[in-house]
Amino acid sequence: MARGTPDPVANQGRRETLAAAAGVDAVEASVHLQRFSVAFEFPVAFTSGLFDPGNPVLIDTLSRLEPDRRHRCLIFIDDGVLAARPFLPAEIGAYARHHGARMALVAEPISVPGGEKIKVELHFVEQMQRQLFEHRIDRHSYVIAIGGGAVLDAVGLVAATTHRGVRHIRVPTTVLSQNDSGVGVKNGVNLYEQKNFVGAFAPPFAVLNDLDFIEALPPRERIAGMAEAVKVALIRDDEFFRWLERHSDDLVVFERAAMAYMIRRCAELHMRQIAHGGDPFETGSARPLDFGHWAAHRLETLTHYHLRHGEAVAIGIALDTRYSVLAGLLDPAAEERVRFLLEHLGFRLWHPALERAMPDGRHAVLEGLREFREHLGGELTITLLAEIGIGLEVYEMDATLVLQAIADLKARAAR
Ligand SMILES: NC(=O)c1ccc[n+]([C@@H]2O[C@H](COP(=O)([O-])OP(=O)(O)OC[C@H]3O[C@@H](n4cnc5c(N)ncnc54)[C@H](O)[C@@H]3O)[C@@H](O)[C@H]2O)c1
Ligand SMILES: [Zn+2]
Repeated sequence: MARGTPDPVANQGRRETLAAAAGVDAVEASVHLQRFSVAFEFPVAFTSGLFDPGNPVLIDTLSRLEPDRRHRCLIFIDDGVLAARPFLPAEIGAYARHHGARMALVAEPISVPGGEKIKVELHFVEQMQRQLFEHRIDRHSYVIAIGGGAVLDAVGLVAATTHRGVRHIRVPTTVLSQNDSGVGVKNGVNLYEQKNFVGAFAPPFAVLNDLDFIEALPPRERIAGMAEAVKVALIRDDEFFRWLERHSDDLVVFERAAMAYMIRRCAELHMRQIAHGGDPFETGSARPLDFGHWAAHRLETLTHYHLRHGEAVAIGIALDTRYSVLAGLLDPAAEERVRFLLEHLGFRLWHPALERAMPDGRHAVLEGLREFREHLGGELTITLLAEIGIGLEVYEMDATLVLQAIADLKARAAR
């Protein structure tokens, strides 16, 4: 009999013993271990001109499981994307007509607020759910989200919870969402001033990365997303870090081929962690790819999201790199390389919120450590740096050293 399968005969004697010990009837008292596993797979495409009628990526994705069906699709588009590409709905309409035998839009693409707004105001989730209800989206229909990480997170939550899960295709349109969040398995919105307080782990049906969207993105957003590439290179891949150093001049001017490689390599490293890291749904205490993130999440909240996620991550990386040096884990020469690369890419490695005190006098950023642990449950696990390319998990942080690291960052910024 397979491991973990309940075996009523073999368990009978043990049940009776347990029941007798507990003083209850053997028929009432029994524990069966239910066990099954589900394999997840989803394509992640890198393309351009996704909605050119001649581009097969989208229609092949829709038809992957049922090639002969006409697939119903409801599309939400980030309003920032729409502002940059006002003809996008018309292009999508033309694409759907061209592939009309296999694809049907149940409505015109629907504009939704881009950026954190869609995640902090919960009524947007309900509004989108109403759209799914009104257009009779079922588990075999598709909900397609075109937008930045915030829109993907919110639409992902809608798709994961409506009918307990409908097919969700992500079309990430920012550097950050193409190289990091879009290929992940998480979604969610913010509540009680806590990021991603409400959400679910729900792998998408597919992720379709179109490089053309990046060209429409404001420079600040393009730079911000590169922080995740620096982050994952630092803890996983020294060769990628050296590539980033060698190509930083190209990345600064958003040279297309360099941007394409940076996004793709970063996405691959994130995908590898999810597939092979052993804990895709983060049931343990570790968040191995969240280097620099405990402080970053705190800074985002403290600045009411004026700092972009990537900008906060760059500061978080600088802080945890400094801390790694102060804790005797990392060579100071490695820290110089990290700082040089981040500053060269255009990041500022200081923000006054790092020093902020809460009304009760507690240090606001240090509180982030507590929040970080609570979000995960269990023990605190923070990734630091041992070398460039090698992350190191620690289970406590010394508050005095954190404050010293903050002071050092401030002193460096003042030079
Ligand atoms: N689910 C995850 O695993 C995960 C991981 C990391 C980050 N996130 C979340 O992602 C969010 C940040 O995402 P983001 O950095 O992609 O930014 P964003 O979604 O906040 O978008 C930034 C701005 O860019 C606009 N925009 C998006 N695409 C555009 C385009 N192609 N052209 C012009 N404007 C465009 C948006 O309207 C918005 O104003 C945060 O909420 C963060 O918590 C989620
Ligand atoms: Zn991040």
